[in-house]
Amino acid sequence: MAHLGLRRFPPPLMVLLFLATAAGKEEYGGGSGGLRFRREGGTFKVLQVADMHFGDGRSTPCEDVLPAQQRGCSDLNTTAFLYRVLRAEDPDLVVFTGDNIYGADSSDAAKSMDAAIAPAIAMKLPWAAVLGNHDQEGTLSRESVMRHLVGMKNSLSGLNPEGIKIDGYGNYNLEVGGVEGTLLANKSVLNLYFLDSGDYSTVWWIPGYGWIKASQQAWFRQTSSDLQKRYTTEEPTQKEPAPGLVYFHIPVPEFGSFTASSFTGVKQEGISSPSINSGFFTTMLESGDVKAAFIGHDHINDFCGKLSGIQLCYDGGFGYHAYGKAGWSWRARVVSVQLEKAESGEWRGVKSIKTWKRLDDQHLTTIDSEVLWNRGSNGKGLSPVHVHDAVSGIHNCINTEYE
Ligand SMILES: *[C@@H]1O[C@H](CO)[C@@H](O)[C@H](O)[C@H]1NC(C)=O
Ligand SMILES: *[C@@H]1O[C@H](CO)[C@@H](O)[C@H](O)[C@H]1NC(C)=O
Repeated sequence: MAHLGLRRFPPPLMVLLFLATAAGKEEYGGGSGGLRFRREGGTFKVLQVADMHFGDGRSTPCEDVLPAQQRGCSDLNTTAFLYRVLRAEDPDLVVFTGDNIYGADSSDAAKSMDAAIAPAIAMKLPWAAVLGNHDQEGTLSRESVMRHLVGMKNSLSGLNPEGIKIDGYGNYNLEVGGVEGTLLANKSVLNLYFLDSGDYSTVWWIPGYGWIKASQQAWFRQTSSDLQKRYTTEEPTQKEPAPGLVYFHIPVPEFGSFTASSFTGVKQEGISSPSINSGFFTTMLESGDVKAAFIGHDHINDFCGKLSGIQLCYDGGFGYHAYGKAGWSWRARVVSVQLEKAESGEWRGVKSIKTWKRLDDQHLTTIDSEVLWNRGSNGKGLSPVHVHDAVSGIHNCINTEYE
């Protein structure tokens, strides 16, 4: 994957990197696709695209648009939105958080996926994807869809970690290096985790959606622990672990912990979690490095709420061939991570994490800008106000026909 993410390097450096890689010396963060923070501004920006529900393109109609908008509306509107928002935001990474295609309405899953992701590839952006519960409903199995995503151009997606047995397809992590030429250039100052939250329960006496299994949580725990150890014990040693962001599709039940006064954004439908709690929120909390988790699945929820120091964020639906709410714009979430400047003026580790959403309206309106995390603020203390009702958030699980 050394050919990826190099678009910001001038050609001579590309050659050097190529030679270094060829000589067996990995460029920074081997396997991570060479993602790093920008020197200009010290930022790294991720655009999240949830629930594109891509079908066959022009012949696949829009759902839940106003009657006057129905004519001439198709998957191609999803494509047009993706181009617009990519041009407006110029992200460093695009993350597709599942239900990228709507398998049941796709006559060729690989072709639909190619068309769905095409704008990111055409704009030469590195991207990563996870599976939802609809990606495998067409001509490809879950494993095959994920393999296809891994093999696509500019993809930083991974199938699964090597050498361990793990549930699902598409459990992997990416490292984001500090600014080139600075003290933290060879360290991962931001960690991104991607997990397969499954589709439907495979245990017949447990109804509803799938969940993140023990094997995946064990891998996550180990990976987070290894990354933290490297960051804090290898030279130049750092006092606190680098922040982590987690991406998957189906909400953990804790997304149901909030009331309208305790989140930013809207909740217009139930939280379609699995019917049981497999403990992944607790695993993220115990790891200590996770600052936020980003999901899709419930298209007309788009809020972020903070529970016990972790921000739980919906994206809101992106794709026109997906249920939504007529007149309520399709949208995408941006996460912008900002580095701290040392007294010398050199960029260091992460200082803050911000987010906002972009709407597919005439002006690509930005809404709900907020700071998700600041270094030094919000310790790991639990917020009991939120904890007590975490369990009541477990939502009726039989709502399987829509999300
Ligand atoms: C879908 O795209 C067509 C062609 O560009 C455009 O005319 C139409 O307004 C779009 N529909 C919506 C709902 O954005
Ligand atoms: C980072 O790695 C490169 C290549 O191995 C090396 O030249 C450079 O000195 C390293 N930078 C730091 C700050 O350790």
